[in-house]
Amino acid sequence: MKRFDVIVVGELNVDLIMSGISAFPEVGKEVLGNRMVLVLGSSSAIFASNLASMGVKVAFIGKLGMDVFGDFILSCLEEKGVDTSMIKRSTLLQTGATVALSYGEDRAMVTYPGAMAQLVPADIRVEMLAEARHVHFSSYFLQPGIRPYVRELFRTAKSLGLTTSFDPQWDPEEKWDIDLQQMLPHVDVFLPNEKELLLLTRSSSLPQAIASVTGSGHIIAVKQGGKGSYCCNRQEALFKPAYYNKSVVDAIGAGDSFNAGFIYKFLQNTSLAGCQEFGNLTGAVSTTAAGGTAAFTNFKNLMDYARQKFGYEGG
Ligand SMILES: Nc1ncnc2c1ncn2[C@@H]1O[C@H](COP(=O)(O)OP(=O)(O)O)[C@@H](O)[C@H]1O
Ligand SMILES: [Mg+2]
Repeated sequence: MKRFDVIVVGELNVDLIMSGISAFPEVGKEVLGNRMVLVLGSSSAIFASNLASMGVKVAFIGKLGMDVFGDFILSCLEEKGVDTSMIKRSTLLQTGATVALSYGEDRAMVTYPGAMAQLVPADIRVEMLAEARHVHFSSYFLQPGIRPYVRELFRTAKSLGLTTSFDPQWDPEEKWDIDLQQMLPHVDVFLPNEKELLLLTRSSSLPQAIASVTGSGHIIAVKQGGKGSYCCNRQEALFKPAYYNKSVVDAIGAGDSFNAGFIYKFLQNTSLAGCQEFGNLTGAVSTTAAGGTAAFTNFKNLMDYARQKFGYEGG
């Protein structure tokens, strides 16, 4: 019996989110926001937190500074039941932060990566991976210390019998330099959003992008914002419209919440359609509260809310 269902390897930072802002900021001027929250940020942490809130045993491998943001992140993760014993802290590093200016469904963000850029292969030991059934990695471009090792991470995980998932996330440098042909054979579930997939594959349409990465026959789940998602494997290709939320609070963490719902069902060997439907649901739920984790407390509350708000009929 493994100690954990999922190990998340990834970046940790806080989000300071301001919303209800009167105009776009301009250098030399000042604008006022109506609301502000400090919440757990970072794709990997939001995924870990939301998956743990559903009752999955999740552990996290990452790096933090020895500062108030680091303390805050640990308390957020622990509150949702994420095991934080493999997170390293250093007095020499500052915990990263994102300042997000939220304008409806979109946002402008500035990130100071801090400690997240300093996660290195030596921080991830094979014995740690062997304690879980599944490994998830996200935010490839934000983690230069681990980037050259990601393929090896997935390859090692597969050789230990784990399943794997990968969300590349946005490339702030917009170079989109990943060798997907090398990486994807070791990835069971590939979870980009549509824009990221087009840029990563240098494609002008979704069918073209999908055709360039389907060779290995694993699952590709493409997130399409308020439209929904497109998921395929070698046998089937499915589009499913979103559980549309017309009064979005913010879309921060919608993709990570989709990932959490999708992987929740994937771990139970649910059909592709079932994983996709649950991913769409958890993505939609995420848009009903500020930040990426506030809408997720426990599985029962999630199901009650999903029935009441979105007419969800599953379990
Ligand atoms: N306005 C919305 N209403 C309902 N569901 C949404 C909305 N926006 C996003 N979602 C759901 O969340 C998923 C992930 O959101 P998306 O914005 O595509 O991801 P990312 O954050 O990675 O860009 C979508 O596939 C969709 O199912
Ligand atoms: Mg995303």
